[in-house]
Amino acid sequence: MGYKQMQRRDFLTIAAAGVTAASLNLPTIGRANASDIYRLKAGKATANLIGDGTGSKNCWLYNASCPGPLLRRRKGEMLNVAVINDLSTPTTVHWHGIRNINEMDGVAHLTQPPIEPGEAFLYEVPLTESGTYWYHAHTMSWEQVARGLYGPLIIDDDDDPAVDHDFTLMIDDWRLDQDGQIDDASFGSLHDWSHAGRFGNWLTVNGTSDPALSAKPGARLRLRLISAANARIFKIKIGGAAATLIAEDGAVCQAEQIEVVTLAPGQRADLIIDMDRDSIILQDVSTGTPYPAGRIIADPNLGQAEISKTPINLAAPAPIADLSAVKVIDVHMQGGAMGNLTEAIFNGDKLPLGTLAREHKKLWAFNGIVGDYNQTLADIQLGQVVALDVFNDTAWPHAMHLHGHHFWVLVDDPTADAPSGKRDTWLMPAGSRARLVFVADNPGLWLFHCHMLEHAASGMGMVLAVS
Ligand code: C2O
Ligand code: CU
Repeated sequence: MGYKQMQRRDFLTIAAAGVTAASLNLPTIGRANASDIYRLKAGKATANLIGDGTGSKNCWLYNASCPGPLLRRRKGEMLNVAVINDLSTPTTVHWHGIRNINEMDGVAHLTQPPIEPGEAFLYEVPLTESGTYWYHAHTMSWEQVARGLYGPLIIDDDDDPAVDHDFTLMIDDWRLDQDGQIDDASFGSLHDWSHAGRFGNWLTVNGTSDPALSAKPGARLRLRLISAANARIFKIKIGGAAATLIAEDGAVCQAEQIEVVTLAPGQRADLIIDMDRDSIILQDVSTGTPYPAGRIIADPNLGQAEISKTPINLAAPAPIADLSAVKVIDVHMQGGAMGNLTEAIFNGDKLPLGTLAREHKKLWAFNGIVGDYNQTLADIQLGQVVALDVFNDTAWPHAMHLHGHHFWVLVDDPTADAPSGKRDTWLMPAGSRARLVFVADNPGLWLFHCHMLEHAASGMGMVLAVS
């Protein structure tokens, strides 16, 4: 699905008039020094998604902010967050990409009971790795994330490359109706669930359309791109400037020059860019029609760039674990529209796909079984080296996410791109295979699911039990 035409026109008019400039520095909420506890209140709120003052009133946000406040800590610290549920529906918060302790992972009915309306939950998360992460609702996430319940989480490290500006860009596509409101009626569309998922028609970066960020002329920038989309696979083009990819999903990779960053739902990419021109235009080129996704403008009023453009020194990505005693777990993914799944086991009964779809809204299966958060994919011994041998035997791409661990990716196809570092979310094209290797060194019940959130809700997710 392309982006919304009517509002695209509005957007162009607004941009020409030069009134879209928004404050791009995400608010960092104050921490009470004594207790060091952040406070996130999930509630109904209005967001200025279109940027012209038309408020989208049916958003659900943390602290009425879109995206939620930037949570920023240092490696080795604790992240303590009191989540208050001011919605009229249960919720939880998941710390995406954090190798968390299990009971803080935020998966309702698996690692904790949901936080009921009016109630609160204190998350105490140890931060053992640095990088770019995010947090989002993990209860009915196909609706809660689509309404805006997410925010960035950055963990700093002493070894981070020095930069003049460190910008976090959280990218999302929203499905808005003609009045600029979130299109409520389309939630739960069986068509979306059985195809590519819920696509939006309006793109925002940090909750606004085509934001302009100012940078010192000649500055060295770090851009942290985070995709909060339900289903769309962004392709973010960095207009002209030399961009060096330094990390994916929070983990350091082999430095690489890139022009376009592919970001599947849940994925992150960190770039270093030297501002060698007046402006850098970011566009989403996933639809064929380039769509504005922000600009970085050199502003002499900000003063001189201070960081010298020396080569970027990065730690080497972690070498892959020893595979001599690997435990292989096959994951045969089937289902969806135009697929080859005719029947699957659901709650112990073998049912035809049509019945599953109509009566249960289930459409996808792992190894012939409709996935669910009470369905164990495998029992794994603590410390075991594991390979998830995943075969995407469907007609759709899927962004496979593992909780509590990061994995190396091995692909057979020599023409396919395999990442040089570890990841927590891996985009699998239709028909592709990948071997996701991890050391199961984190005990607990961990989800492995598609981050196209409609797919996760309709069968594409199961639990790995590590003990
Ligand atoms: Cu980012 Cu199970 O989710
Ligand atoms: Cu999927």
